[in-house]
Amino acid sequence: MPYQHIQFELAGSGVALVTVNRPDKLNALSRGVVEELGQAASQIAEDPAIRAAILTGAGEKAFVAGADINELAAFSPVEARSYALRGQQVFRKLETLGKPVVAAVNGYALGGGLELAMACTVRFAAENAKLGQPEVKLGLIPGYGGTQRLPRLVGYGRALEMLLAGEPVTAAEAWRIGLVNAVTPQAELLPYCRAWLDKVLANAPLALRMAMEAVDVGLSAGLEEGLRFEAAAFGVCAASEDRQEGTRAFLEKRRAVFAGK
Ligand code: COA
Repeated sequence: MPYQHIQFELAGSGVALVTVNRPDKLNALSRGVVEELGQAASQIAEDPAIRAAILTGAGEKAFVAGADINELAAFSPVEARSYALRGQQVFRKLETLGKPVVAAVNGYALGGGLELAMACTVRFAAENAKLGQPEVKLGLIPGYGGTQRLPRLVGYGRALEMLLAGEPVTAAEAWRIGLVNAVTPQAELLPYCRAWLDKVLANAPLALRMAMEAVDVGLSAGLEEGLRFEAAAFGVCAASEDRQEGTRAFLEKRRAVFAGK
């Protein structure tokens, strides 16, 4: 699929590398970028050869420095609402596509950039990364899920601190508060993401999908529904060939080889 604003590469390992590619604008999210991220999410979800993805920004300075402020400056209220809804839809698609998506936060992740990273399954950050929701400095609030996902990740006290002051946190602070899962030197960020995915992808694909879905259902719907979903998903996994292979391999003291069935 030809892309203009992002790069989409697929390695032999089945891990897609999606790079937001506007380095001269610090990879700001124009509408074109958001649409292409939506197409990339569909491609990742639908192509059986793709088992996981890494999302990053071009250059060494920014992951994504926010929504494109040139576009934000020109919106009518009605346009702004549909712009927010569209971005929310694309990010939700990315969040629920059923395969792990790792955010490799290689620099500034501000505004829509942090919202994009938070819609990923996990976030690993380079030491130079700065993460924040500065929208209030522009007379706005986050529109791509920041007010919802930030408190879920870091708790509402810290989330409000970041949302109201609009000041970014360093990678080290982001790690301390649970906003990112690990911090690495810039040059080691992509190898770190790939190594983590190697471990994840050695596990049963259906179990990975069900674990992510159970977490998502529980966080969206609440404990009771989440527990019910967990039990049903546990049953689905128990019916899989991979469950037979996984338990048998353990008992036979060998490594499981999963077929994704
Ligand atoms: N939208 C549009 N353009 C952006 C942008 C954004 N969110 N963030 C950066 N850019 C552009 C700059 O306008 C500049 O373009 P120019 O060279 O044509 O003037 C280019 O990217 C480089 O940015 P610059 O500000 O010169 O880099 P810097 O190192 O001095 O500062 C930041 C980096 C990230 C601190 C600064 O760019 C910034 O504050 N960006 C906006 C962050 C923001 O508020 N995001 C939330 C939007 S909701």
